[in-house]
Amino acid sequence: MADKKARLTVDGLDEVIELPVYSGTEGPDVIDVRPLTGKGLFTYDPGFVSTAACESQITYIDGDKGILLHRGYPIDQLAEQSDYLEVCYLLLNGELPNAEEKKRFVNTISNHTMVHEQLISFYKGFRRDAHPMAIMCGVVGALSAFYHDSLDINNANHREVCAYRLIAKMPTLAAMCYKYSIGQPFMFPRNDKGYAENFLRMMFSTPCAEYEVSPVLVRAMDRIFTLHADHEQNASTSTVRLAGSSGANPFACIAAGIAALWGPAHGGANEAVLTMLNEIGDEANIPEFIKRAKDPEDPFRLMGFGHRVYRNFDPRSRVMKKTCDEVLAELNIDDPLLRIATRLEEIALEDPYFVERKLYPNVDFYSGIILKAMGIPTSMFTVIFAMSRTIGWISHWNEFHSSPNRIGRPRQLYTGAKKRDYPG
Ligand code: SDX
Repeated sequence: MADKKARLTVDGLDEVIELPVYSGTEGPDVIDVRPLTGKGLFTYDPGFVSTAACESQITYIDGDKGILLHRGYPIDQLAEQSDYLEVCYLLLNGELPNAEEKKRFVNTISNHTMVHEQLISFYKGFRRDAHPMAIMCGVVGALSAFYHDSLDINNANHREVCAYRLIAKMPTLAAMCYKYSIGQPFMFPRNDKGYAENFLRMMFSTPCAEYEVSPVLVRAMDRIFTLHADHEQNASTSTVRLAGSSGANPFACIAAGIAALWGPAHGGANEAVLTMLNEIGDEANIPEFIKRAKDPEDPFRLMGFGHRVYRNFDPRSRVMKKTCDEVLAELNIDDPLLRIATRLEEIALEDPYFVERKLYPNVDFYSGIILKAMGIPTSMFTVIFAMSRTIGWISHWNEFHSSPNRIGRPRQLYTGAKKRDYPG
């Protein structure tokens, strides 16, 4: 597999260390640094900026060109021509399903949507004003205590059933968070409804009144799910892989991913974008916020802008903007926040600070405006990201367990006190 070699000299070491270099199907070559441990050396890479922590065949990002591929297929083509459950199948299995496989997959997911009745007690333990992500961390972790018949992580069928359960139950659990927060009864899933439609129904129907779902909104919701489905080795996916590497319960691993996603630097950014746009409040205030974002002394950053990997437009943000325009037109909404967002984007894209650092809008910049227009409260935005990303997490978890593996165990550059004796 190693067709090239890197050679490393280190002051004080009188040998040249040879390191294998591997080429993937796309992307930069990687240097295998594992031989360094035997020479008494570690690499140092806080934030994993230059570290490939695993080999993977699921998703590829070319950050300079702004390209995102799932199993080789460009995200814009998937968002336009496919649907979320088909993308789930693709991520999990490596190929698009044929008509029969798709039908069977959709049917299987539809038949796993209900959650154990006792899970309701977990919701009741939370305060009504709890953040829905706090509830999601708890209830998804609690799934570990329910589904004991599919927990052998070395059994491919068990892993598959776990994946089906998670894909199917996440919308039910997410909608239950919302219903709990507003004091309405939980709505059961309906297996004759599509995935996105079912979610919107469980969010907005009540036992007294059925929610009339617009096909444009169903399509937009499905597209939001698709655009968030996977993104390679981001913080939450790496967390799921690391938690999984110890052999932990799969539902607990997904709960760990939810926790990692919650922060505003990651999935919490969609909620933070709306908060920021509301704070800006008027186009006239944009320059002041741009100034703050550029000030190294000010912790404020432009939410929904910048990305570790993309040094170009996030291809998802373009599809998201188009979807945003469609939804606002369908609902006949003229949202002042959209005007602020559009103007903010224009100003930032011409400002030397953002241009030099190659900071562009990311997936989270426009998603909140669409969700808000649909009537979804801000605090649910990151939950919707978590629901959508569950397929990515479980596909990576499954890939990890499908091949030879070992526990993740980073090392460190120790700069603490030297060995010393306890005062006698
Ligand atoms: C997601 O990794 C993934 O794949 C994640 C994700 C997924 O699908 O899983 O794509 C989802 O998490 C999207 C990102 C959502 N987060 C935000 O929108 C929050 C705002 N963005 C930033 O906090 C930041 O850009 C990050 C966290 C996204 C990336 O952080 P990095 O890679 O550590 O960026 P950096 O600190 O190296 O930034 C380089 C420079 C710095 O300035 P200098 O020190 O060089 O002078 O750019 C500046 C940063 O201060 N900078 C910003 C900025 N983002 C970076 N300045 C102002 N506003 C910003 N948003």
